[in-house]
Amino acid sequence: MIKPLISRRAGKLSGEITVPGDKSISHRALILASQAVGQSEITGLLESEDVIHTAKALELMGVEIHKTKDAWRIDGVGTGGLSEPDDILYMGNSGTGTRLMMGLCATHGFTSFFSGDKSLIKRPMLRAITPLKKFGAEFITREKGLLPLAVIGAKNPMPISYELPVASAQVKSAILLAALNTPGKTTVIEKTPTRDHSELMMKYFGFDIEVKKNGGAREITLTGQAEIGPKKVVVPGDPSSAAFLVVAALIVPGSEIIIKNVCINPERIGLYTSLQEMGAKLEFLNTRENAGEKIADIAARYSELTGTEIPAARAPSMIDEYPILSIAAARANGKTIMLGLEELRVKESDRLTAIAEGLKVSGMEVMASENSLTVTGAKNIPGGKTIETHMDHRIAMSFAVLGMVSEKPVTINDGAMIDTSFPGFVELVNGVGGNIE
Ligand code: S3P
Repeated sequence: MIKPLISRRAGKLSGEITVPGDKSISHRALILASQAVGQSEITGLLESEDVIHTAKALELMGVEIHKTKDAWRIDGVGTGGLSEPDDILYMGNSGTGTRLMMGLCATHGFTSFFSGDKSLIKRPMLRAITPLKKFGAEFITREKGLLPLAVIGAKNPMPISYELPVASAQVKSAILLAALNTPGKTTVIEKTPTRDHSELMMKYFGFDIEVKKNGGAREITLTGQAEIGPKKVVVPGDPSSAAFLVVAALIVPGSEIIIKNVCINPERIGLYTSLQEMGAKLEFLNTRENAGEKIADIAARYSELTGTEIPAARAPSMIDEYPILSIAAARANGKTIMLGLEELRVKESDRLTAIAEGLKVSGMEVMASENSLTVTGAKNIPGGKTIETHMDHRIAMSFAVLGMVSEKPVTINDGAMIDTSFPGFVELVNGVGGNIE
């Protein structure tokens, strides 16, 4: 069902809030708990459509999952203990859920069928299929490796060594998950570091994983077929969700907010570094660590921002944050130049085009190339038009934030996809002083 939204100019934002659990960590918590022997307990799980699709897929393969008042309980079946699903694994809008679960299924000796919504079935899967075939799995796909597809899991998986051709935590994680039920040592090499939630959580669960750092590059080796016990996992808040509120506070005059308990994994905070370089009054307070993940409370105050150049090397650590950074850039003095954005073209939508079109119809000056974006900031943002979200939750939320500082209200053609990652977004924003309907 389509859910249009209208975002109007807001007064100052203030308050102390939390955002829902981290999406990347939530998928991994469910999947790794399924591979332990015994009952794991997850608190703070992101209860969004994407994550629920992963839970349902695991249930279809024999994992018992139930939610009690305070936690999710996962009865793990042990490494390699999944059973053949008797229905299609429907992954909705979730690229992460799909690629991670394809990895897990690739080394279970059964066939599974994957599909998803109209956005997901356009997204590239060959990047995961290519390494997974090396384990001995086979795939039947639509042309160019697109969903719907079937994974014919390897009965006798062989360990692999693979250097990632694209900086992708999803592909890295698909390989590591396939390695869990593969005898011997599987190695993944990444030239550019990407989010390492899989590695940290595998270590926390007690899997045999070793990470060698060599400058920026990393070599990750996992020895498969370990038997490990259950764990308690606490999922921190999602920095990619917090980003919308942080940028809103930075650009709406007089605002001051604190977002408590947010994951600040170093491979996830490129946006925050960039905003600080632009002059944002932004602080990490109370920094602490849990299960290898860094956590902090984030304080953000209204700031005069200045445009800057965001280097391509930073892209993996802020890959989901370019839509909201572009909104901050629209309010900054001067130009913000964002480089190395080729991966934005294969997200939930072609985000480069969606951002550029949305800002242009809102009256802003934007230049997009194949892999870069330049936004010229302005004091007055006309707004007053309808933004096409192209089934992309982050485009919807970003332009809802733009509406908070534009002259005329911004209409979002469909806000329904927000529930894939940030249920309660509208209520939370309105609770601190926003005006979204
Ligand atoms: C994710 C990795 C990133 C990111 C996505 C979540 C993950 O995708 O965009 O939202 O949880 O591993 P890529 O691996 O395709 O860069």
